[in-house]
Amino acid sequence: MKILPPTSESIRFAANALRSGELVGFPTETVYGIAAAATNRDAILKTFALKKRPADNPLIVHVASLEDTTPLVNAIPLAARKLAQAFWPGPLTLVLPKAESVPSEATGGHDTVAVRVPNHPVALAILKETGIPLTAPSANPFMGLSPTSAEHIASEILEGLACVIDGGRCDIGVESTVVDCSGPEITILRPGGISRGEIEGVLGQSVRANDSNERKSPGMYKRHYSPQTPIRLVESLGPLDGGIGFGPPQNPSQFVLPTDAAGYAHELYSTLYALDQLGCDEILIEKPPTTSDWEAVHDRLRKAQG
Ligand code: TXA
Ligand code: MG
Repeated sequence: MKILPPTSESIRFAANALRSGELVGFPTETVYGIAAAATNRDAILKTFALKKRPADNPLIVHVASLEDTTPLVNAIPLAARKLAQAFWPGPLTLVLPKAESVPSEATGGHDTVAVRVPNHPVALAILKETGIPLTAPSANPFMGLSPTSAEHIASEILEGLACVIDGGRCDIGVESTVVDCSGPEITILRPGGISRGEIEGVLGQSVRANDSNERKSPGMYKRHYSPQTPIRLVESLGPLDGGIGFGPPQNPSQFVLPTDAAGYAHELYSTLYALDQLGCDEILIEKPPTTSDWEAVHDRLRKAQG
């Protein structure tokens, strides 16, 4: 069995595997990731091959603390420092000017690097035990649904991993918010676990979301985060429909999710996973509210529709 309990023995095993260039599945508070030593070009390339991910789609480098970002970046602008201090460890990724030493394979050839300190005891334990920064994309095949529990990692991904450390279900359930702090203007490249309102609260200014059609963040493909079954948003579920609503359920193929954005996000991917297993022709989803705290949910629903 490749899925190991989160014991100190497993953590040591994972750290040794990572130091020798192997890939490890690890839990974070957002989704499960595929960790590799960010100092090892071959290990990084293995990550891209395993996910079948295009080489120009850069990875997030995970570290154990703000201090550990120092060797990876050329500068930490004041706004980035404020955000890191407010939200790390947590579901926030900062894009910063890259230091020469970061392998270009990790950053898709860009002159910036994305960094984050995850808020999960197992991820932090692995980072500390390994002693090197770790690249970690979500542990799904390219375009697929990100796993929010160890059992949801697809078998073709599992095959390429030395092990997965089981950290239970992810608290947040959607990926981190990616914020570009590398230029004169702060921009949200991907909405996620930290809302725009929380970011604006810390910076004391409004922040632009990357809503242009231009692909500023190379990973922001139109279709992404998708289950196998087609998805359609509807005003409300009919009695025979399978999908996600706010209740009450009218048949066993209807899943009721919480009415608050954080609760909904926590359940979303695992529910889509369960619906995918049911083999319906289509997954219908009742439109969630459109207030700003729902931005990450709407982003993922849009991308799941393609
Ligand atoms: O919550 C998360 O962020 C998870 C967990 C495992 O930490 N990781 C994750 O990684 O979602 P991934 O590779 O699935 O998504 C990384 C996103 C992509 O949209 C990518 O384009 C963007 O971050 N990104 C990474 N480096 C970037 C850079 N230098 N400039 C702009 N966008 C970047
Ligand atoms: Mg991903």
